[in-house]
Amino acid sequence: MKRITFPDDMAWGAATASYQIEGAWDEDGKGESIWDRFSHTGGKIIDGSTGDVACDHYHRYREDVELMKRIGLNAYRFSIAWPRIFPEGAGRVNPAGLAFYDSLVDGLLEAGIEPFATLYHWDLPQRLQDEGGWANRDIVEKFRDYAVSVVNRLGDRVKRWIVFNEPPVFVYLGYQLGMHAPGLSDSAITMSAAHHVNLTLGVTIKALRESGRAESVGTTYNLMPPHPATDSVEDKAAADRWDQAFNRWFVDPIFFGTYPEEMRRRFEPVMDCVKPGDMEMMKQPLDFMGLNIYSRWVVVHDPGIPTLEARGGVLPEGVETTAMGWEIYPESIYEMLVRLKKEYRDPAIYVTENGAAFDDTVDADGNVNDERRIDYLERYLGQVARAIDEGVRVKGYFVWTLMDNFEWAYGFTKRFGIVYTDYATQERIMKKSAHWYADTIRNNGFAL
Ligand code: FCB
Repeated sequence: MKRITFPDDMAWGAATASYQIEGAWDEDGKGESIWDRFSHTGGKIIDGSTGDVACDHYHRYREDVELMKRIGLNAYRFSIAWPRIFPEGAGRVNPAGLAFYDSLVDGLLEAGIEPFATLYHWDLPQRLQDEGGWANRDIVEKFRDYAVSVVNRLGDRVKRWIVFNEPPVFVYLGYQLGMHAPGLSDSAITMSAAHHVNLTLGVTIKALRESGRAESVGTTYNLMPPHPATDSVEDKAAADRWDQAFNRWFVDPIFFGTYPEEMRRRFEPVMDCVKPGDMEMMKQPLDFMGLNIYSRWVVVHDPGIPTLEARGGVLPEGVETTAMGWEIYPESIYEMLVRLKKEYRDPAIYVTENGAAFDDTVDADGNVNDERRIDYLERYLGQVARAIDEGVRVKGYFVWTLMDNFEWAYGFTKRFGIVYTDYATQERIMKKSAHWYADTIRNNGFAL
């Protein structure tokens, strides 16, 4: 038997996102978000569901904080819904929106749980999308003002801020692939959205720092190591391009003020959104980096895909997968952590999401025996410990997710929680993995 242990000051948390759990989509003055619009448009969500009610967390947050306390979390990552604070995206503040997060934060602190707040986990005010969303440069200042307002209100109690959740996902899936809100498919719009997101990050980090109200500011990336499907020169080059477009396009600007060369050349025709001074502005110091990771990319050369000529997400034969069809590949987390240390100046890192969906069911005794999730978490956490042993500065780990919730285009068909949500009754049932996680936190590790 082997013991896997972690540093004493490790943050142990769970992560959620506003649209996925809150519900109360039009209550207390909240404005419409692009996810409200998208889910209310037929045919976008696999089971026809919406986040109108979701886990009803907006009304049940006290109970949910109790649940976190029972599990023994010492940290909790949640996101703030921009349209609750600014129903029209800018201008008029909605006091009830701020009040909600205010009492959530107080509740967490009373329970001894450190709040980690994400400022943007995809629910853009619809009003701003009507003006072009991330493709309209005006959004840079609007987001900055929103961020500063929230930090002014909560910064005396929330120490750690995460600006964005997963830019490549909301940009590419929302503006190019049409799979996420706002459901568009246009390359020029996509690349300008990507650039404005990078610029907004720089501008916001600078403003938050100048406000003196944000103790520690980071941002979260979803980064998966790209592996060429074969040893061929073509596949290797394709994997490199994929890395540039999906990983480095969003990480290099903040660290180095650059876009990766080859893809920059290939995207040139749709890059007139870049204005003088932007590249310098994008480069800002981060207090920490958030890493979301679930698997790796297996990539092949594919001339059928314009500009990129690469296709990721190839599933090698015989590999083990989760209910999402994602390959279980624990070494991915180790590989990415080590790479961030080497290539991005040894940042302090929080694993802000990691976890798995399985087809969990409640058995006759009322228990949810999600052994496969425990196995997944043990294997990934084992790789986190390995990276820490090699000097990577991992400061915390957040399991995705606290409770089963609205999984974007998959609606309620995918269960990622360590707590089971009965959507008919809103009952929460701690799965076996929640009990396992409680033990792991208590012992700061586990036996393999
Ligand atoms: C990530 C998202 C999160 C959740 C998990 C499964 O990409 O940040 O909201 O959907 O995947």
